[in-house]
Amino acid sequence: MTRLVLNVAAFLMFIALVILAQAPDGAAPAFKGPDAVAANLVNIACASCHSLDRVKNKVADKDG
Ligand code: HEC
Repeated sequence: MTRLVLNVAAFLMFIALVILAQAPDGAAPAFKGPDAVAANLVNIACASCHSLDRVKNKVADKDG
């Protein structure tokens, strides 16, 4: 029984490693900290079309 549990655990670890290995080389590092969720969302949603420099460099007043 213990052996079965260990085998299942090892299998799940292997699957997790395979999934992690799928990340593309150029993937931006995941953000950490209190704004991590928003930062990751922007990174995923917005960086698919243009770099985030475009977002960071945008300067406008409230109306803009
Ligand atoms: C479907 C593609 C696409 C996605 C997704 C996208 N953008 Fe853009 N974005 C563009 C294009 C194209 C331009 C250039 C528009 C232009 O120059 O008129 C642009 C320009 C911008 C600009 C500059 C606008 C300006 O007035 O200078 C900002 C800021 C920006 N995007 C922010 C974002 C943010 C924030 C997100 C995510 C919520 C996002 N974009 C997602 C295509 C996209």
